[in-house]
Amino acid sequence: MNDSSARDKWSGRMAFVMAAAASAVGLGNIWRFPYLAAKYGGGIFLFVYVALAVTIGFTLMTVEIAIGRRTKLSPLDAYKSIAPKWQIIGWLGMAVPALIIAYYSVIGGWIVKFLAFYAKRLLEASPCPVTVAESKALFSDFTGGGSLQPLACSAVFAFCTAVLVLLGVRRGIEKSNKIAMPLLLVLCVAVAAMSLCQPGAAEGLAYYLKPDFSKFSWKTVVWALGQMFFSLSLAMGIMVTYGSYMRKEDSIPKCVFRIEFFDALVAFLAGLMIIPPVFTFLGEEGLKSEGPGLMFISLPGVFGKMTLFGASIGDVAGLLFFALAFFAALTSSVSIMETVVSSLRDRLGLGRTAAGMIVTIYMFVTLVPNSLCFANGGVFSCEILPGMRLLDFCDFAANNIFMPLCAFLTCVFAGWCIGPNWIVREIGIREGRFRLARPFAFMVKYAAPAAIALIFTFYILKELKIVEM
Ligand code: PFF
Repeated sequence: MNDSSARDKWSGRMAFVMAAAASAVGLGNIWRFPYLAAKYGGGIFLFVYVALAVTIGFTLMTVEIAIGRRTKLSPLDAYKSIAPKWQIIGWLGMAVPALIIAYYSVIGGWIVKFLAFYAKRLLEASPCPVTVAESKALFSDFTGGGSLQPLACSAVFAFCTAVLVLLGVRRGIEKSNKIAMPLLLVLCVAVAAMSLCQPGAAEGLAYYLKPDFSKFSWKTVVWALGQMFFSLSLAMGIMVTYGSYMRKEDSIPKCVFRIEFFDALVAFLAGLMIIPPVFTFLGEEGLKSEGPGLMFISLPGVFGKMTLFGASIGDVAGLLFFALAFFAALTSSVSIMETVVSSLRDRLGLGRTAAGMIVTIYMFVTLVPNSLCFANGGVFSCEILPGMRLLDFCDFAANNIFMPLCAFLTCVFAGWCIGPNWIVREIGIREGRFRLARPFAFMVKYAAPAAIALIFTFYILKELKIVEM
């Protein structure tokens, strides 16, 4: 089906690095990394995270990109074209984005709502800063109130994603990344600077960066591993797809290190933005929330307390923060949609517009129940599994079941079916000789699958409430 000569291509190495980094930098960096770092040992967590990223993360990302580049196919067909029996990996690699796409726009919609909220406050020059109680009420009324507003906001986010994907790899994804990524970095630095200017920031900073060995345990390693896979967008088919657009003359290992550097940098900056002011204004207790609770409830209250030269800067900080969260989420969402679109194109021989329209319809249809599942007492509010509404269920299935399974099988496939030399040869096209070939082979055959099996086991034990994490 696939005509590789007509395949989209990045315009250069930086375009690829930027696109992959844009996918990697997402909500995981913002609402999860700082929380995990605070909980599992500060500096020691950072160290473990980086060590895992440059070993196991490097290995899996290299494998995925090499498979994409060599086959010039997206996940669904890439694995099939190499070994038909292993096409299950392609299906798993498709299931993750298909599940994520079904709810990611809902969260994007919440960001749109808070962005509009801060913009309105600034325009009206609202005198009273936002408190935690107000942000809590705003968030729960918005998501649980049963109005169509969350749906409308999610539709705005989904629409932006669809437009960029429909415009194509160069006109849509590359061009938007060129604006979004530098802006995102500038915004991160600006908000981090505001946070670090607050009284008591030094103690918060020490709490974040000082290694606390009393909090170090096997849990530090398990959470750092899980976070790393999610944050680097691994086992979601994204890197296979983006790798399939990569030019042969670009070095895969060099690109992988750059992507990892960028992703870790934003996660680190997110810690600087969030941990010191939360620690100052809400204490250690405040650092116990993550995800939506941190982003939409605690943080607006914390911003509300921020001042500079005696004047409140809460609304400016809030606007900048939600703008950066919007860019981070949008570029990740684009990568996930592109993966599904690309797989449909390869499998069905469709053009970008036709495949893009099918996925857009799917995205809009699935966002209705996912968005309305928070409406208290609404038709979609039932629990799919105990304590899990539809959105939580999709998130759980994608990230705790399909993703580790896909990651594990990818390693077994690369290490034992095609063998590490297959990947090494693809790297060697540009590199001549891949100097890290031996450690890479060890990683892909033993260390990476063992590490993935470990986190998978812990996810299951945690869900069965056998271990406390
Ligand atoms: N790397 C992303 C993050 O850290 O948020 C993971 C991701 C999630 C990528 C959802 C794409 C996506 F649509």
